[in-house]
Amino acid sequence: MKEVKAGRARSCSGVEIPLIDLRSQHRALQPRLFAALRQVFDSSVFVMGPNVRAFEEEMACFFEVKHAVGVASGTDALTLSLAAFGIQPGDEVLVPSFTYAATAAGVCHLGARPVFVDSLPDGFNLDPGDAERRITPRTRAIIPVHLYGEAAPMKEILELAEAHGLYVVEDVAQAAGGRWDGKLLGSLGHAGCFSFYPTKNLAGCGDGGMVITNDDTVAERVRLLRQQADASMVGGQKYVHPAVGYNSRLDELQAAVLRVKLPHLESWNRFRQKHARRYRARLRDSGLGLPARSRDGSHVYCLFTLRCAQRDELRQHLWECGVGTEIYYPLPLHLQEAYRDLGYREGDLPVSETLCKRALSIPVYPELTPEQVDSVADAILEFIHSRAEAKTEEAVGH
Ligand SMILES: Cc1ncc(COP(=O)(O)O)c(C=O)c1O
Repeated sequence: MKEVKAGRARSCSGVEIPLIDLRSQHRALQPRLFAALRQVFDSSVFVMGPNVRAFEEEMACFFEVKHAVGVASGTDALTLSLAAFGIQPGDEVLVPSFTYAATAAGVCHLGARPVFVDSLPDGFNLDPGDAERRITPRTRAIIPVHLYGEAAPMKEILELAEAHGLYVVEDVAQAAGGRWDGKLLGSLGHAGCFSFYPTKNLAGCGDGGMVITNDDTVAERVRLLRQQADASMVGGQKYVHPAVGYNSRLDELQAAVLRVKLPHLESWNRFRQKHARRYRARLRDSGLGLPARSRDGSHVYCLFTLRCAQRDELRQHLWECGVGTEIYYPLPLHLQEAYRDLGYREGDLPVSETLCKRALSIPVYPELTPEQVDSVADAILEFIHSRAEAKTEEAVGH
């Protein structure tokens, strides 16, 4: 099996479709983006200025929550929220194993212990039944990740949290604008944490993040912590520090870009859903595991991720056809070197481990044309048919 090489494939059929392409989005918005950036340069206020304040208000309004606090990244949004809830050494936090490393990083930075939870057998998100089995007297919080843009099973998670007195910190990095039961993701738990990393549905031009919450105390604590815990951030005296804080601010340039983009989020998500429907129709009989359906806009397809037993061969074939793909994620967190001391072994979280061998994400960015979606689907079906033919030939003794 050849390794999939870095870079873009030369197409056998003229197709050349990257996994993500921000250039078309930026071309369309260029005049407004440049005007917004120019205005920041003209004012030369780069930190904690009017764009950050306005973007926080716009996000709070969009997500129908009381507070939105800009921070430097999605990782910091998680870390500062957990810190605001008082998570500390000795505490345990339930975290899916099948997620990006950042979900668990904040727990560790606070000296607490991530307790890894397996995924649902028929999906990608965390399994609330498995989470419940792992609760101990030290468990203080749970981090449901709305992976790939699909809502985690929030009914069960909220019930579990209520029954055991846990904080729910939603990781919405991949699901901006997604919903569960009609409500926007991020607004269901005690705090919602966003990333504006360029590959996300709502993306800046660099790093950025945000915490949303209805809890006044948590919002105030995150506001304090993001700027060295300087008391002036929450109405106190400047250069007086009631705690050890962080340097974790969203900057004006990012906020200015994000303000231009936020009004487009829902329409971009609808395009992603449209592409997902097209893939679903084309790949219905392919035998591949397809992502969940979007009920009432619940799934916003930050990624369209297939499950395929011959994942690496399919990936190689798509690369040869000029289609960009990525494996999110090839190794579950519980088997990472970073967590070796926690004592997990292969086989402990079998669903997550299998997903790591099968998951393959294909292009689903909003600006794809229907023809491009069809080309990707054609390339996948070509692979499936060639496999089926090879099997038949084997069966008849060729
Ligand atoms: C699920 C998940 N959580 C958290 C993060 C962290 O966000 P950031 O890269 O902005 O720190 C990411 C981003 O890659 C993510 O995909």
